[in-house]
Parts: sequence; C-alpha cells; structure tokens
Amino acid sequence: MPTLTRATPVGVLGAGAMGAGIAQVAAAHGHDVVVVDTSGEALERARAEVEKALRRDVDKGRLDRDGAEAVLARLRFAGQQGAEGMDAFRECGLVVEAIVERLDVKRDAFARLERAVGDACVLATNTSSLSVSSIAAACRRPERVLGAHFFNPAPVMPLVEIVPGVSSAPAVVEATRRLVDGWGKTTVLAADTPGFIVNRIARPFYGESLRLLEEGVADVPTIDWAMRELGGFRMGPFELMDFVGHDVNFAVTRSVFEAFFYDPRYRPSFTQQRLVEAGHLGRKSGRGFYDYRDGAERPAPTTDRALGQVILDRVLAMLINEAAEAVFLRIGTPADIDLAMTKGVNYPRGLLAWADDVGIARVVERLDSLQQEYGEDRYRASPLLRRMARHGKRFLG
Ligand code: NAI
Repeated sequence: MPTLTRATPVGVLGAGAMGAGIAQVAAAHGHDVVVVDTSGEALERARAEVEKALRRDVDKGRLDRDGAEAVLARLRFAGQQGAEGMDAFRECGLVVEAIVERLDVKRDAFARLERAVGDACVLATNTSSLSVSSIAAACRRPERVLGAHFFNPAPVMPLVEIVPGVSSAPAVVEATRRLVDGWGKTTVLAADTPGFIVNRIARPFYGESLRLLEEGVADVPTIDWAMRELGGFRMGPFELMDFVGHDVNFAVTRSVFEAFFYDPRYRPSFTQQRLVEAGHLGRKSGRGFYDYRDGAERPAPTTDRALGQVILDRVLAMLINEAAEAVFLRIGTPADIDLAMTKGVNYPRGLLAWADDVGIARVVERLDSLQQEYGEDRYRASPLLRRMARHGKRFLG
C-alpha cells in the first residue's frame, strides 16, 4: 500500500489550465509540488495564473498573505531536464499528468515518467476521455496507474472522478482517493469507460438540445431559457457550448461517439460541426450560437412555459436515461452518479433523485413515445428504468 500523506512530494506533468490548478490545490494542502512542462512559456503562464488565483483568495479573505506566500514557496516550476526530461519527479510519491489529450503522447510520457520515479510512486492521469487502462499499459507497473479526473477550474470545482484501470491495484486507488479527499475534494469512483460518469451522462444536455433546435421545436434563446428558468440549470446548453468552445465540445462528443462504437445516443450534430468549420467557436472567437461582438444584440426567447416544459421534459428524460444506464452498467453507484453531476457540472439536482420525483414510469413513457415517433434507437429506454417502473421502485430510498 503506497503511503500518501501531506509530506509526500507531488509532481504535475503539464502546466496548462488543469496542471496549474491541480498544482495549486496540492500546494495549498501542504505538499511540495514540482510542475514540469515542455514549454517554458506554459510554465511562466502557470505560475502567473496561480499567483493571480492566490491574490484573489487573499482579496476575498479566503487566505491570508502569509498563507499565500507559503503556497507559492511550496511550488516549483521546472523545465524538462535530464535525458528523458522527467528528472524533477525523482522524489515524488504521486505524479498527476495533465498534458495534451492524445493517447500516443500520454503513453510515451508515462513510459518515460515511470523510468524517472521510484517504485512506490503513484501515477495518475487527468484524462477526460481516454482509456486509463491503455495509458497504464505503457508502464512496466500498470498497477500503480489510475485516473484522477479533476474539473475546470481545479481549485474551484469540488469533484474528482477516481478511475481505476483494469490493472490498478486497489491499494493505489484507495490511497489516492483518501489523499484527494483530504484536499477538500468530493471523490467518486467511476468505471474506466468513455467519458467516465460526468462526460458520459452530460451528453444529451448538448445533443438533445441540438436535436430540438435542428427540428425547429424552438430557437436557441428559447431552449436556453427553458433549461435555465424551468430546469434550474445554471446555463442553457447553447450558452454553455459557446462558453466551453465548439471545437472542444464537438471533439469530446465525437470521441465519446466513436468510443461507444457509434451508439446513436451519442451522435454528434451537423449544426455544431458547421459552427466549428466556420470558425464560430463561441465566446473565444466572438461568435457561436450567440454573437459576442461589440454592439451585438442578444435575441429574446419566447417565454412560453408550455413549450418550455416540452423542451425540458425531453432533454431531462434523455439525461435521466443516461444516468440510469450508467447505474445499470455499473459505471458508478447511484449516490456517486448524483453527486458527480451536481459537484462536477453544477446540475441543480441529481438526475436519479429528479427521476424519483418526476416518476420513473413517466420518464419511460416519454422515452417510449419518442422512440415510437422517431423509430430511432437513440431513444431506447434503459432496461433498468423499465424494470424499476414495472416494480414501482425508486433510485434513492
Ligand atoms: P492545456 O492545453 O491547457 O495544457 C497542456 C499542457 O501540456 C501544455 O502546457 C503543453 O505544453 C503541455 N504538454 C504537452 N505535451 C507534453 C509533454 N509530452 N510533456 C510535457 N508537457 C506537455 O490542456 P488542459 O486543458 O490543461 O488539459 C490537460 C489534460 O486535462 C487533458 O488530458 C484534458 O483532457 C484534461 N482535462 C481538461 C479539462 C478542461 O476543461 N480543460 C477538464 C478536465 C480534464
């Protein structure tokens, strides 16, 4: 059993948005942290980002000046030294990898990383969509490798999905989970399947909303309004896609679709693909579903509650179906699945608790009527939902 305590030096490979955030979290919890990146510029930016975040914490009274200084003093940003560039990790007991989301690059990095660290060092990947088992297989000791999937921004978002690969040792999983819990995070255990819990279950939030748009059921501002005002979601699906960036959101959708061997439930949308092709990537490029350029007017929704309810009911039925299927296939426990969606993507409530309230039989009815109308496998109800409806059962007590 590896011992991971606050005295354990932590390494972070990759100084991008996620790496910088994870390093900050570990340093804030007493670890000496070394951050390594191939790009000196990325390291400089990461340091500046952490400094800025700490200053904000001081301004808001969440941290005193000495505390912030101490966090910074525990952080070291190192260029890649040594023949294989991983020497800075030699003393680490845990290294979290947060480099580019490419399997070949990650596998190569893990093989080199393993040669630099001691035998007891735990190696975690922050991948959001790749197979943890495949990354681990690049190592001589795959039992020391697991997924630790943080959410963006890592210092703010409480959720971390802990993902054991096929070969991960239970003791490694347990020790890492306990350590991350100690960082004030909420951890859930997720199976090593595409999208883990959150990025799998959240697909219909985007995908079904895009379908509603494509079918002309309602326009963009109206669908966003319905999901916010009637559903209680913090942002509407189109606002959120514009915020995340269509290039990123489309790439995730596409990779989940391919990883599920082209299950029609996860099919990407042409509308979004065209936005990406046109360079309308959302806020960052000035245009997406909305226009963010100076002087642009925000179109008004049609605030028709009956129409809004139709939209919400359809997207919600698809989200609940995904959550139920994740329970059915043992991707996570019901409690972890509800926790993951509220803590990882700020859903107003857990989807399974929501299903209990709406009535599981009603959700099945909605899905069945969609499937009948469209004749598409996309709308097939999870066998678990059907079984529970038949027996009048609830997910959570
Ligand atoms: P990023 O693009 O901001 O940063 C990646 C960093 O890795 C860059 O600084 C790059 O120079 C460095 N890098 C690339 N190849 C390297 C190598 N071989 N060795 C050392 N450094 C290398 O990416 P971001 O957004 O921080 O994502 C990193 C990882 O975290 C990815 O696996 C991503 O899927 C995952 N993730 C991202 C989230 C997000 O919202 N951005 C959320 C959760 C996970």
